[in-house]
Amino acid sequence: MTVNDFILKSYSNQIENGGVTWESPSNIALVKYWGKKANQIPENPSISFTLNTCKTITTLTYSKKDDTSNFDFEVYLDGKRHDGFKPKIQTFFERVLVYLPFLKDYNLKIETSNTFPHSSGIASSASGMSALALCLMSLERQFDTKMTSEFFNKKASFLSRLGSGSACRSIEGDLIVWGKTDVVEGSSNEFAIKYPYKVHENFKNYQNTILLVDKGEKQVSSTVGHNLMHNHPFAKQRFEHAHQNLNKLKQILESGNLNDFISLIESEALTLHAMMMTSNPYFILMKPNTLKIINKIWDFRNSTNLPIGFTLDAGANVHILYPKKEAHRILEFIKNELVAYCQNGHYICDEIGLGANQLL
Ligand code: DP6
Repeated sequence: MTVNDFILKSYSNQIENGGVTWESPSNIALVKYWGKKANQIPENPSISFTLNTCKTITTLTYSKKDDTSNFDFEVYLDGKRHDGFKPKIQTFFERVLVYLPFLKDYNLKIETSNTFPHSSGIASSASGMSALALCLMSLERQFDTKMTSEFFNKKASFLSRLGSGSACRSIEGDLIVWGKTDVVEGSSNEFAIKYPYKVHENFKNYQNTILLVDKGEKQVSSTVGHNLMHNHPFAKQRFEHAHQNLNKLKQILESGNLNDFISLIESEALTLHAMMMTSNPYFILMKPNTLKIINKIWDFRNSTNLPIGFTLDAGANVHILYPKKEAHRILEFIKNELVAYCQNGHYICDEIGLGANQLL
């Protein structure tokens, strides 16, 4: 399959208007994507758990227009006009026009909302861009009614990637790989695939509690962050390290060794932050409470031997990962000892999910 296969070659102009609604989840990377080449091609492979509760719900309403020289779209967040999203969507439309040649034929109304608070510091680009890509694919399917669901998902992931890299991992669940690697057959830089190998029972229904340490705007946008990997003194080693970690994780996922799993995800999270601390310019994205939480998790793990681990994205919030069967004791610990370090005591309980759903 090549990128050319994603170009819609011909389409009839029969569809006058309509609407479609998708919900698409966020995802949490275990091996992180950090660094990209031109056209949203990742520097290294990544793997993530698709989430279940943190989602974006997007309705796309389309109606045929006469002037096809420009994009014509409006964006609404929680029912209110939100022009702040327009530049990112405009860039996305420009990138995907060649694959969706009908985009300029319609007036588009994009109405979006998130199940998590907008200002929670949780990245909404993965869920938001994938939800929009899925809506556009539903429109495309009207021109190509014989489209297989396999092609639909692949192209939705491909388009999502052009909006935001990590978004390509949100279409399906529950474990998703993006980026070419010898470790995973069928992996691609262009779109994500479902992890195709055996996964131990220990990882079924894995839980993810997100501690909202800092709900403010991100200090460094991910685009700026990825660019910091160009000419980074440790970039080459990091990209190799990600390949090695994916290989290790493949064995861990098969064996079900939770101690090794925790060591790997925590090391990945800290490596991501180490990359930011050693770039030029450099950033510290953890807050004092992030470190307090990490130390509390380590103390609790040492004293109870419970399989609790954490990962971080490019911010201060802490994602705690643990098996469902330990949820009772671990949630007790979170409520009693960690919530105090969250901004306004806010945290979100999520778990592994199976991907996006069409609602209407
Ligand atoms: C730290 O997907 O947000 O969450 O492609 O520029 O939109 P863009 O970046 P984005 O980067 C996410 C980086 C990360 C790690 C990950 O999810 O793999």
